[in-house]
Amino acid sequence: MSHADEHAGTRRDFLYYATGGAGVVAAGAAVWPLVNQMNPSADVQALASIFVDVSTVEPGTQMTVKYLGKPVFIRRRTQEEIDAGRADDDAANILDPMSQNPNKPGSSADDANRTLDEAGEWLVMVGVCTHLGCVPIGDGAGEFGGWFCPCHGSHYDTAGRIRRGPAPENLWIPVAEFADESTIKLG
Ligand code: FES
Repeated sequence: MSHADEHAGTRRDFLYYATGGAGVVAAGAAVWPLVNQMNPSADVQALASIFVDVSTVEPGTQMTVKYLGKPVFIRRRTQEEIDAGRADDDAANILDPMSQNPNKPGSSADDANRTLDEAGEWLVMVGVCTHLGCVPIGDGAGEFGGWFCPCHGSHYDTAGRIRRGPAPENLWIPVAEFADESTIKLG
């Protein structure tokens, strides 16, 4: 029996499901190097994906999950947050013109290019300041009602775009999609 066969049965065990109440799930970052050595891309791919149940996330709240060793913010925006983000698409202090969204490569920083859904309700972002890597404070923090990084004073808006301070880029967006209507797949 080959290495690959031995491990085929356990591959699905590497998919970790987050429940809304728990809020945090590990993607198994610690076991990555070992499995990465043993097997090619299929296992790496399975390891790199997690499924997050977002059915309990109410509008105006967010959950934070851990993905590949980093916090990921999953925010369900209110209509006010959506409107504020869209109204500011052409503001002069959109400091980074790119969406930083690998799901829409090369797209502009327009609010609609930052969210997971057409309606703009779901904003999924890596919770790491693009300046020097602190974790920004959320829930309407900062001068633009989004996130604020207290380390050196970076203000992000309701779409996670850098609007003031030293951070050079908008908060990054991970590879993500809806697996079903209440589950977001990261990776
Ligand atoms: S690390 Fe966030 S402003 Fe410097």
